[in-house]
Amino acid sequence: MRVAIFGTGYVGLVTGTCLAEVGHDVICVDIDAAKVEGLNNGIIPIYEPGLEPMVKANHASGRLHFTTDAASAISHGEIVFIAVGTPPDEDGSADLQYVLAVARTIGQHIERSTVVVDKSTVPVGTADRVHAAIAEQLRARGVEVPFEVVSNPEFLKEGDAVNDCMRPDRIVIGASSPQAVDKLKRLYGPFNRNHERIVVMDVRSAELTKYAANAMLATKISFMNEIANIAERVGADIEHVRHGIGSDPRIGWHFIYPGAGYGGSCFPKDVQALARTAQQHQYQPRLLDAVEAVNEAQKGHLFELIQRHFDLGEDEGVRGRTFAVWGLAFKPNTDDMREASSRRLLAQLWEAGATVRAYDPEAHEEAKRIFGERDDLVLCDSANAALEGADALVVVTEWKQFRSPDFGRLKATLKDAVIFDGRNLYEPGDVEQAGLAYYGIGRGRSV
Ligand code: UGA
Repeated sequence: MRVAIFGTGYVGLVTGTCLAEVGHDVICVDIDAAKVEGLNNGIIPIYEPGLEPMVKANHASGRLHFTTDAASAISHGEIVFIAVGTPPDEDGSADLQYVLAVARTIGQHIERSTVVVDKSTVPVGTADRVHAAIAEQLRARGVEVPFEVVSNPEFLKEGDAVNDCMRPDRIVIGASSPQAVDKLKRLYGPFNRNHERIVVMDVRSAELTKYAANAMLATKISFMNEIANIAERVGADIEHVRHGIGSDPRIGWHFIYPGAGYGGSCFPKDVQALARTAQQHQYQPRLLDAVEAVNEAQKGHLFELIQRHFDLGEDEGVRGRTFAVWGLAFKPNTDDMREASSRRLLAQLWEAGATVRAYDPEAHEEAKRIFGERDDLVLCDSANAALEGADALVVVTEWKQFRSPDFGRLKATLKDAVIFDGRNLYEPGDVEQAGLAYYGIGRGRSV
């Protein structure tokens, strides 16, 4: 089928590439000419495992094109995806200016029956606004072209996006006509082999499904962080508690890992946006507000532990110390630092007069872009290099390569022989046996 996709961010680029991979003829549009030129020359703007070879192969085969020319893309696509960004507004609600700008562009150029698909995460009711924006342009042109706006939210995880797209656990289609449903079913047919993954519903339910999924996952994390904070105070170990509850299939093992708080471009933004939507409909979302508040507090927890440890000493506490920080990205296998817990930690350490020696396998360019050059940040070439001259180690992101360090070496290198483990990667006993002090999240020994 012929597909046009607006937006070559995570969602648009991964979706377009995977649709081309299964044989569709895809044109991706972006207003950023440099990005489009880069993509046409095999330069992939994001780090996403498996994506680069797939983009290159499909581009070479002629099934995947990149352009800034919206009009030609619209005339190409019988299905047109909107996959542009929806950054948070000042009040936390989703900013729809880019989505609605694409809608107007579509209205200015469609010539024949088109299914327009909202792929971006957009508040309930957005499909209606997209419909109105397209209709307005058609009226201005004085033409009548049949079109329908469908909600088809994405459930990709950064770092595993290609896999999620090629092997989705569900494909949600919110549409009002059987014709549009049929079209999307044909589009997604290659991803829907062996067992039925397509879930058809009305448009508003599909829009809400996306927020409900992310809010539920964020709730699980904040819930576990809250229990971890209680565990710390009552002298219990959250890791035992996690094992104790995860085996109940009603609870499950996923997303019950306590840590330094959730980050990324989705959970923080989506929980807030859903809360704003609820308020706009005169409902005070107490649970969502609490999920967000717990996470905000949790992002500061590592620093609290650090402060508590160093304030026990005779000297100036954190001031003048050097901290090795392992991990800057909001999670492993990505270079993305949006809303990353590391950003809060670094800001607090700097505010307190400390220096940071950081190492992340992928996020250094991003860190340079965000923080610029500063004397109190040294980006190191390896995890071991970050330890040199440091008083303590703080682990913020659970990259695999941080999982089994040589504790003897850590003991010999770190001036204060202490580890703050923001992702509970280590067993306290193993660390302490090597002669280091250990602080984890919710491990009953921090108070
Ligand atoms: C999330 C959802 O998992 C995807 O299903 C969804 O499609 C996507 O948002 C989206 O809306 O686009 P993503 O933001 O890539 O995906 O990242 P996750 O893997 O969900 O992790 C989010 C954050 O939660 C990370 O900071 C991670 O460290 C944290 N986390 C995750 C925990 O602290 N504990 C856990 O048990 C799991």
